[in-house]
Amino acid sequence: MATLPPGPRSSLGFMVRYLRDPIGCMLPLAREYGDPVLFPGNPAVVFTGDPAGIKAIYGADPDTFEPLNQDLGVFVGARSLILLGGAEHRRARKLMTPPFHGARMRAYGEQIVRLTEQRTAAWRPGQRVSMLDTLQHVSLDVILQAIFGVTDPERMASLSKLLLEITNGISPLIALVPSLRREFGGVGPYASFMRRRKHLHEQLDALIAERRAAGPREDILSLLLSARYEDGRPMPDDEVRDQLVLLVLAGHETTAIAIAWSLYALHRPENAAVLERLRAELEGADPAPDVMEKLPYLEATCQETLRRYPIAPAPSPRRLLRPFELMGYTLPAGMGVCAAIALAHFREEAYPEPMRFRPERFMERQFSPFEFLPFGGGSRRCLGAAMASYEMKLVLGTLLRRYRLRLDSLRPDTGAVRAANAGPARGVKMIVEELIARPTRAR
Ligand code: HEM
Repeated sequence: MATLPPGPRSSLGFMVRYLRDPIGCMLPLAREYGDPVLFPGNPAVVFTGDPAGIKAIYGADPDTFEPLNQDLGVFVGARSLILLGGAEHRRARKLMTPPFHGARMRAYGEQIVRLTEQRTAAWRPGQRVSMLDTLQHVSLDVILQAIFGVTDPERMASLSKLLLEITNGISPLIALVPSLRREFGGVGPYASFMRRRKHLHEQLDALIAERRAAGPREDILSLLLSARYEDGRPMPDDEVRDQLVLLVLAGHETTAIAIAWSLYALHRPENAAVLERLRAELEGADPAPDVMEKLPYLEATCQETLRRYPIAPAPSPRRLLRPFELMGYTLPAGMGVCAAIALAHFREEAYPEPMRFRPERFMERQFSPFEFLPFGGGSRRCLGAAMASYEMKLVLGTLLRRYRLRLDSLRPDTGAVRAANAGPARGVKMIVEELIARPTRAR
């Protein structure tokens, strides 16, 4: 029996294909080499989309792995959750999980609907809008209010501008190639990223000091500051700051991309019946967030979007700290392993006609967490999954209730790499056709 799975000799061709088609690029490899597939590199990484392989990874003792992308500290902060391993990760995760609990998200429902309405209030029939830009603003507004607790419009605008400059300024090249991260005497994308980062840290330090001085509040930052580790100590301020940066980077673009993909898929001519069914469901229901959240076809549409357009096609691999058995292979310590979402979500066995956008499949059967895993899994499953799912339903529902839209171009979009995510390549440009409802309630 071979000890390592087969795979291509070089990962270069794959990297080029990944930049062009981040969602579909893994499928030809799995067809050619099978699943799991080994990618050469330093370290070599084994990818699998097979439920048995994914179960083995997510079900393993978390101390089997450490995070691989240690070099991302400059972007997300060296103490941020995503870069911590072992006991440190467990400790920080335990402290950060309660504020993100699904039931808590409901406190932000009205805010999410209102912020969506405010960001689109100026839309007029005939106008051409970039959905991704608009949605990035909406999801940043939600993060600033729900997580940071910032409601002053001027402060929201200045933080929002800075955060967008930072996230949009992280080019895939400097994210993927550490050797390009040089300041070159203060010019170039990395130098401007570092300047903005310094400015952001100053603003976040001021915000943390204010929240510490203020009494108890509803926002996630305040909950985090009042939480205590088992030894009774709070999370130090510089660590809280790293977590805030991570939450913005992990949370705002991903959610915006997911909703933009939904709108793209729903307005493709081949999916007209899906859009019609969803509109009928929304029109027949009360627009209150707690009702909208439970609409079954809206829920299925959001799930199908996350399946068909996985935002993290192959989330950061884990490095093995000891030998690991994966689907009959013995992988050595030092090698990387990755639950490849973009392979799992296109398996014919679970999803017949996998390229078709068909929300009904989520109403016809239940998928296991090893078949449907848009938020990853195991001990590192996305911390913001409940928030993202809730926000997706409310923002999409609110937009479809208020506007009739059409795609500006019917050219298929296979996606592009944006920072570390797979998003629509052209930002989903749409034309506002009609305003069909006033804001849902007087505010
Ligand atoms: C549709 C939107 C989103 C998608 C598809 C998504 C997806 C993911 C994925 C695939 C992972 C990696 C899991 C793994 O390694 O197994 C992850 C991690 C993470 N996500 Fe999300 N995410 C989304 C939104 C959010 C939001 C809104 C937040 C917070 C505001 C957030 C915070 C995080 C954090 C903190 C981690 C690191 C968890 C850890 O290492 O323990 N994400 N996300």
